[in-house]
Amino acid sequence: MRGGGAAGRRPAGLVFQGEACRAADPWLEEITGLSPAQLRSGWDRAVHPEDLARLREALADCLEGRRGTATLSLRLVDREGRAVLAEARLSPTLLDGEPAALVVLEVPPGPGAGAADYARLFAGVSDLVVTHDMEGRILAANPAVGRVTGRPASAWLGRPLADMLAPDVKHLFADYRRTLECEGRARGVMKVLGREGGEAYLEYDSVLLGPGPVAHLIARDVTDRILNARYKKALRHGIAAVAGHLVECRDPHTVGHQRRVAALAAALAEELGLGREEVEDVRLAALLHDIGKAAVPAEILLRPGPLSELERRLVQQHPRIAVEILRETLLPPRVLAAVSQHHERLDGSGYPLGLKGPDIELAARIIAVADVVEAMTAHRPYRPALPLEAAFEELGRGVRYDPEVVRAAESLGGKSLEIMRRALEGRGGSV
Ligand SMILES: [Fe+2]
Repeated sequence: MRGGGAAGRRPAGLVFQGEACRAADPWLEEITGLSPAQLRSGWDRAVHPEDLARLREALADCLEGRRGTATLSLRLVDREGRAVLAEARLSPTLLDGEPAALVVLEVPPGPGAGAADYARLFAGVSDLVVTHDMEGRILAANPAVGRVTGRPASAWLGRPLADMLAPDVKHLFADYRRTLECEGRARGVMKVLGREGGEAYLEYDSVLLGPGPVAHLIARDVTDRILNARYKKALRHGIAAVAGHLVECRDPHTVGHQRRVAALAAALAEELGLGREEVEDVRLAALLHDIGKAAVPAEILLRPGPLSELERRLVQQHPRIAVEILRETLLPPRVLAAVSQHHERLDGSGYPLGLKGPDIELAARIIAVADVVEAMTAHRPYRPALPLEAAFEELGRGVRYDPEVVRAAESLGGKSLEIMRRALEGRGGSV
């Protein structure tokens, strides 16, 4: 906008009779590029096409005396064809003794005042900067918007912010606006349409500014961060799913064992107050804990009855083999440690290393308890499911299991059975 400084923001008037403009303030030429004569003959060129109907309706109300003074926000079109937010105050008056409507236009100061001023101010900023009114119409956008969305910033002017959102989250614009209106500020991550039909993620911070009011939104492109986290999650989930199927194919007697142990171990980790990431590592380690059984001959795994010393030693290699299998996955070391130590016991009676007490990873101590509860309360072809109390009795005997984890299991009580049941319904075993 030319003359966009303080001088360019003084009010300017127009007088209407019917839909005809009878008089126009010469100052409007500074914004619209239209002289008073041009405004009188074609004033509608100075108003954004999407706002014309509202202005005409307000004019009719004013001229026919249905309303006294009225105020509305609308967009003018500047001499370069860009939208400029303005406030219009309409009041009834008389011209040559006939009813007329006086329209006083004011371009408010602030970032919404002029798209060109604004774009210049934030042209070199790598973050996205957008100003929009409370209907969501974009009044200004800096070039970074074009870089992320693949459409030049000027193409967004006058369009709803909701159009920038990805189709599946468009409905969230209403929540965003409500938060802005109620709290004066809205923050979060929005999914927008990216270049070439893709999606982009923006971490935004939006504040409400007066007068107007308009919202000033600053956003950072965090697409890489979000997608990396999503791929990492998918990779972890994929590894766990493959591991689960692999073991269950070999040993159908324990179908779902790892998923049930994982759900219970994660619940125990939460009960113990572990952080979200630690809980997810416990869940993942539990989903993988018996993957080493894939290397144990099926006839040994499936054969009921006691094993020979050699067979027993072979089975006891499964935690070590699991780590060999998982070494290339780049999973966090504490996940690998938990898998390799899930048969270690506090008193050193476990295997494969005979580790003791605090040398055993907490996640492994949690999985050990979940493993016992699951194994004893599950039905096996050679015996029926045992009650939960039998599992607690086994856990409380001696000093093999971490007493704090055992206490957590006792405080979960009967909920453990429900948690394990839901894991098999596919609602409790995701990573
Ligand atoms: Fe095991």
